[in-house]
Amino acid sequence: MALLFPFILLILLTIPTTSQTLPQNQTKTMLSLSKLTLSPLWDPTKQPNPCDWSGVRCSSGNSSAVISLSFPPFSVSNPQVLSLSCTLSSLQKLDFSNNPIKPTSPTPISKCGSLSNLKSLNMSNTYFLGPLPPFNGFPALQSIDLSSNFLTGPVESQFDSLLNIQSLNLSNNDFSGPIPTSLNLGLRELRLSNNNFSGSLPKQLFSCSNLTILDLSSNSLSGFIPDEFANLSALNTLLISSNQFSGAIPPSISALKSLSRFGANQNKFTGPIPIGIMKNLRTVLDLSFNGLSGPLPADLLSPPLLESVDLTSNALSGSIPQNMSRRLFRVRLGDNRLTGAIPPSVGEVLGLQSLELDDNRMEGVIPASLRNCANLTLLNLANNRLQGEIPRELGEVQYLNVLQLQMNRFNGSIPDELFQLNALLNLNLSWNALTGPIPSRITGMQTLQTLSLEENSLSGSIPASIGGLEYLLELSLGANELSGDIPSLPVSLSTSLNLSLNRFDGPIPQSFYELSNLEVLDISDNGFTGDVPTFLTQMHSLTTLDLSNNNLSGTLPTFPPSVRVNATGNEHLKLSSKGGSIDDHRSGAVRRDSIVLVIVGAVLVSDALVAGYLWLAPKRFNQVEDRPPLAEEGEPPRGGGRAARNAQDHRRAVPRHE
Ligand SMILES: *[C@@H]1O[C@H](CO)[C@@H](O)[C@H](O)[C@H]1NC(C)=O
Ligand SMILES: *[C@@H]1O[C@H](CO)[C@@H](O)[C@H](O)[C@H]1NC(C)=O
Ligand SMILES: *[C@@H]1O[C@H](CO)[C@@H](O)[C@H](O)[C@H]1NC(C)=O
Ligand SMILES: *[C@@H]1O[C@H](CO)[C@@H](O)[C@H](O)[C@H]1NC(C)=O
Ligand SMILES: *[C@@H]1O[C@H](CO)[C@@H](O)[C@H](O)[C@H]1NC(C)=O
Ligand SMILES: *[C@@H]1O[C@H](CO)[C@@H](O)[C@H](O)[C@H]1NC(C)=O
Ligand SMILES: *[C@@H]1O[C@H](CO)[C@@H](O)[C@H](O)[C@H]1NC(C)=O
Ligand SMILES: *[C@@H]1O[C@H](CO)[C@@H](O)[C@H](O)[C@H]1NC(C)=O
Ligand SMILES: *[C@@H]1O[C@H](CO)[C@@H](O)[C@H](O)[C@H]1NC(C)=O
Ligand SMILES: *[C@@H]1O[C@H](CO)[C@@H](O)[C@H](O)[C@H]1NC(C)=O
Ligand SMILES: *[C@@H]1O[C@H](CO)[C@@H](O)[C@H](O)[C@H]1NC(C)=O
Ligand SMILES: *[C@@H]1O[C@H](CO)[C@@H](O)[C@H](O)[C@H]1NC(C)=O
Repeated sequence: MALLFPFILLILLTIPTTSQTLPQNQTKTMLSLSKLTLSPLWDPTKQPNPCDWSGVRCSSGNSSAVISLSFPPFSVSNPQVLSLSCTLSSLQKLDFSNNPIKPTSPTPISKCGSLSNLKSLNMSNTYFLGPLPPFNGFPALQSIDLSSNFLTGPVESQFDSLLNIQSLNLSNNDFSGPIPTSLNLGLRELRLSNNNFSGSLPKQLFSCSNLTILDLSSNSLSGFIPDEFANLSALNTLLISSNQFSGAIPPSISALKSLSRFGANQNKFTGPIPIGIMKNLRTVLDLSFNGLSGPLPADLLSPPLLESVDLTSNALSGSIPQNMSRRLFRVRLGDNRLTGAIPPSVGEVLGLQSLELDDNRMEGVIPASLRNCANLTLLNLANNRLQGEIPRELGEVQYLNVLQLQMNRFNGSIPDELFQLNALLNLNLSWNALTGPIPSRITGMQTLQTLSLEENSLSGSIPASIGGLEYLLELSLGANELSGDIPSLPVSLSTSLNLSLNRFDGPIPQSFYELSNLEVLDISDNGFTGDVPTFLTQMHSLTTLDLSNNNLSGTLPTFPPSVRVNATGNEHLKLSSKGGSIDDHRSGAVRRDSIVLVIVGAVLVSDALVAGYLWLAPKRFNQVEDRPPLAEEGEPPRGGGRAARNAQDHRRAVPRHE
C-alpha cells in the first residue's frame, strides 16, 4: 500500500482548480464514452468539459489529458466501453467497479495493451465470468481488483507480465487449482478469499517479503503452516480462516512484528496456542472452531491494543487471565474446557460489547464489576458451574440485548433490578436453582422476545404485568413451582408457551383464545380441570398441544389434522374418535422424536422475527468472525446507539407479523 500513496497524492495534487482543456481526440473519446454510459452524471449538455464529470480527473498543464476514469456504478453495460477506454493512453487509474458489463468477459480490457501509464485497474463486481485471460501490456500496473465476479479455472501465468503489481484482489470468485506461484515478489496485498483454491501453501509465497495483507480465507487449502511465515515480516493482516489447514499453529507466527489481525478459525489446527503469540499481535485473534488444546496463554488478553479474541469451540483449558486490554470489545471463549472464575478485572474493560464464556467449566460468581461495562450487549455464561445469586448490578448494563445464564447453579431470587434492562431481547435463566416469585416489574423489559425460566424452583403466580410484554414470542416457565391464576398473556406469543410441570389448577384459561399466533402450547403435568375448551381447536397457528397429565374431563373436541394433541394422563377425559392426530398411550417410545420433529417444524415455519432472534442470539455456526472491528455486518449489535436502534427496529417489526 505504501507505494500507492505517492500515486494517490499525485492524483490529489492534480485535481483541477480550473478546468483543463483536453486535446480534441480525447474529448471525442470521452463524448463517445458518455453516449455509451447511462449516467446522468456524464452529460455533455450540462458540463461540456469531460474533466468536470464525476469520476473523471485530468492532468493540469498545457498538455492536459484524462488520467483517472471511474465509471459511475451501474452506468456501463456495453463492452465497447472497455475497448474505447483502452485508447486513452494517458490513463493512470481505471475503475469499472459495480458495473454489470456484457458480454461478461474481461478479455477486451486484458488485451488492450496500450495503457502503459495505468497503475490501478478496478474490475470488482463487473459480472465477469469464465476463465481468466492473461493481462498484457500494463507495464506500470500496481493494483488490480477482480474481486466479486464469477471467474473460474486456475490462476497460473495470467499476471506474469505485470512486473510492478503490488496489490492483487481475486476474492469472491470461483477460481480453483493451486495458489499461483509465479507471483510478483514485490506484492504487498494479496487477497484470494472465497474461492476454491486447493493444495498447500507454496514456498514461493514466503519470498514475497513485502506482503502486508494476505487473505486466503474460505478456500479448500490444506497442509501445515510452515515456519517460513516468519519471513513475511511486514505482514499486518493474515487470514487463513475456513480452510482445511492442520497441524500446529507454528510459534514462528509470534515473530511477525507488525501483525495486527490473525484469523485462522475454522480449520483443523491442533496442539497448543503457541506461547508468545500475543507478544506482537495487535488487534484481532480468531482461532475459533479448531481442535486446539492446552492452557490459555497468560498474556492472551493483555496486548494493550487488543480488540477481539475468539477461541470458541476448541478444547482449551486453564483459567481466563486477569490482565485485559482496555480496548477489548469482543471476548468469545465459549465451548472449551476452561475452569476457574470470571476475573473481576473484566469490569475494567469499559468498551466490552460481547462476552461469551458459555459451555465451559467455570466456577464462582458473576463479578458485580460487570456493571461498569456499559456497552455490553451480549453476555453468555450458559452451561458452566457458576453459582451464587445473580448480581443485581447486572441491571445497570443497560444496553444488554442477550443475557444467557442458563444451566448453572445460580440460586436466590431473580433480582428486581434485572428488569430495568429495557433493551433485552432474550433472557434465559433456565436450569438453575432460582427461587422466589417472578418479579412483577417484568414489564421493564419492554422489548423482550424470549423468556426462559424453566427448570428452577420459582414459586407464586405469574404476575399479571406479564401481559405487557408486547413483543414476547416464546415463554418457558416449565418445571417450576408456579401456581395460581394465569393472567392474560401477551398476544404476540408465537413460538411456544410452556407451563408444564407446575402447580396450576382450575379450568384452562379462556384468555388463551387470544393467542392466535401460538404454535406450541404445553400445559402438561399440572392440575388443570374441567373441559378442554373448543376454542383451542380454532387457534389457527397451533401445531402442538400437550394437555397430558392433568385432571381434564368431558370429551376432547376435534382438532384439525395439523395439530398434534397429547391428552394422555387425564383419567376422566374421553378422547373423541376422529380428527387431529391424537396420541394415546401406545406410542411412548416414538413420542420424543416426533415432538422434537414437530418443534423443529414449528421453528422452521415461524416468522421473520424468530429469524431476527436467531440473528441476535450468540452465533455458534460456521461463520468467519475475523472481520476488523469496524466492519460489523452480521455481528451482534454493538454500542449503545446501535442497540437502542435495533430494539426500535424490532418494535416496529412486530405489528407487521401479527
Ligand atoms: C504553456 O503554454 C504557455 C503559453 O501558451 C507557455 O508560455 C508555457 O511555457 C507553456 N508551459 C509548458 C509547461 O509547456
Ligand atoms: C491524441 O493525439 C495525441 C497527439 O496529438 C496522440 O499522442 C495520442 O495518442 C492521441 N490519442 C488518441 C486517443 O488518439
Ligand atoms: C475497487 O472498487 C470497489 C468498489 O468501488 C472498492 O471497494 C475497492 O476498494 C476498489 N479496489 C481498490 C483496489 O481500490
Ligand atoms: C481488494 O483488495 C485490495 C487490496 O487489499 C483492497 O484495497 C480492495 O479494497 C479490495 N476490494 C474490495 C472490493 O474490497
Ligand atoms: C520490498 O520493498 C522494498 C522497498 O520498497 C524494495 O526495495 C524491495 O525490492 C521489495 N522487495 C521485493 C521482494 O520486491
Ligand atoms: C473445489 O475443488 C475440489 C478439488 O480441488 C473439488 O473436489 C470440489 O468439488 C470443488 N468445490 C467446489 C464447490 O467447486
Ligand atoms: C526465509 O528466510 C530465511 C532466513 O532469512 C531464508 O534462509 C529462507 O530462504 C527464506 N525462505 C524463503 C522461502 O524465502
Ligand atoms: C499486564 O499487561 C501489560 C501489557 O502487556 C503489562 O505491561 C503488565 O505487566 C501486565 N501485568 C500483569 C500483572 O501481568
Ligand atoms: C460505548 O459505545 C459508544 C457508542 O458506540 C461509544 O461512543 C463509547 O465510546 C463506548 N464506550 C466505551 C467505554 O467504549
Ligand atoms: C446459594 O448457594 C451458595 C453456594 O452454594 C450458598 O452459600 C448460598 O447460601 C445459597 N443462597 C441461597 C439464597 O440459597
Ligand atoms: C434456554 O436454555 C435452555 C437450556 O439450554 C434451552 O433448552 C432453551 O432452548 C433456551 N431458550 C431459548 C429461548 O433459547
Ligand atoms: C403424551 O404425554 C405422555 C405424558 O407426558 C407421554 O408419556 C407420552 O409419550 C406422550 N405421547 C406422545 C405420542 O407424545
